[in-house]
Amino acid sequence: YEALLDASDIEKGTYEHYMLKEIDEQPPVIRKIIQEYSNDKNELEIDSDIRQALLDVDRIYIIAAGTSYNAGLIGKEFIEKIARVHTEVFVASEFSYNMPLLSQKPLFIFISQSGETADSRAVLVQVKELGYKTLTITNVPGSTLSREADYTLLLHAGPEIAVASTKAYTAQMAVLAILAVDLARAKGSSVPFDVTQELGLVANAMETLCNEKEEMEQIAEEYLSVSRNCFFIGRAVDYYVCLEGSLKLKEISYIQAEGFAGGELKHGTIALIENRTPIIALTTQQHVNLGIRGNVQEVIARGANACIISMEGLEQINDRLVLPHVLDLFTPFVSVVPLQLIAYYAARQRGCDIDKPRNLAKSVTVE
Ligand code: G6P
Repeated sequence: YEALLDASDIEKGTYEHYMLKEIDEQPPVIRKIIQEYSNDKNELEIDSDIRQALLDVDRIYIIAAGTSYNAGLIGKEFIEKIARVHTEVFVASEFSYNMPLLSQKPLFIFISQSGETADSRAVLVQVKELGYKTLTITNVPGSTLSREADYTLLLHAGPEIAVASTKAYTAQMAVLAILAVDLARAKGSSVPFDVTQELGLVANAMETLCNEKEEMEQIAEEYLSVSRNCFFIGRAVDYYVCLEGSLKLKEISYIQAEGFAGGELKHGTIALIENRTPIIALTTQQHVNLGIRGNVQEVIARGANACIISMEGLEQINDRLVLPHVLDLFTPFVSVVPLQLIAYYAARQRGCDIDKPRNLAKSVTVE
């Protein structure tokens, strides 16, 4: 596989860190995925054997760890909303110790950038023994999880070197979106948007944000320069992106960060808000916009330093960043980019070892 790599894939070039290079690679990776999954009629599709296997199940179980788990949460949104198939997402290490009651005809999707994560492999071994069908979504052809599962879908993201995953996360979401649309069509349901076009628009919007790095650097400085902690709040799909934003921040800047559902604020976490506590509030959907702004008022009243990130087309009040508009379902591709960049600059401002954060490994091959 190494031999197939273009040297530029594994060199930093003019970049100070791989992480920043990989953040910038996200729009071209989305375009590459569109190309790789296009058929002769220019429609996006997955392998017909995989489609057949998916058609035959009553529930999909997504198993993953770390950032790949966070991508799985968005994958559940896509599969349930687009293809209308029940989907559950599990942290791999928890699933193996505490297997839930399974449906009659499950199929397991393993999401893993490296394809080597031992926690995920342990589940793969368990469910194969039970005779269930398995699909691995990975960036590495020939990896353990790919070899051992019945089917594989590749991310085509190119090698990801930085320990903190960025382009694999958005690539995983793109492949899951294509899978969901393909499955919906195969089930005879109409898909009310053109996925090729919408993913193309997503890539353009991501590019716009990658060109606004000074803005993200400034946000990191303004909100995170002196704090030891930071809270990310969102509702619905924004909540899932908050989980990834907080994971990125803690991994590389060592700022204690927590992502949580806006509605849960009053049930505990609000006790932690002090004068100048940074809150990053994400709102990209009409139906959550008012709710999250209510949460922002509550934290501001207790002294928090709130940074609102919203999306074009929504009613705005004192927003710090407004994201380019994309399809409601696809906002995570776009909203995660500023969170990745804010984490990057917060870590850089603190002089952290961004590509190799302390105590972390790119791929964890022990349980
Ligand atoms: C490690 C890495 C994370 C990654 C997780 C899952 O903990 O530090 O960045 O998200 O493993 O890795 P995988 O290769 O299975 O996606």
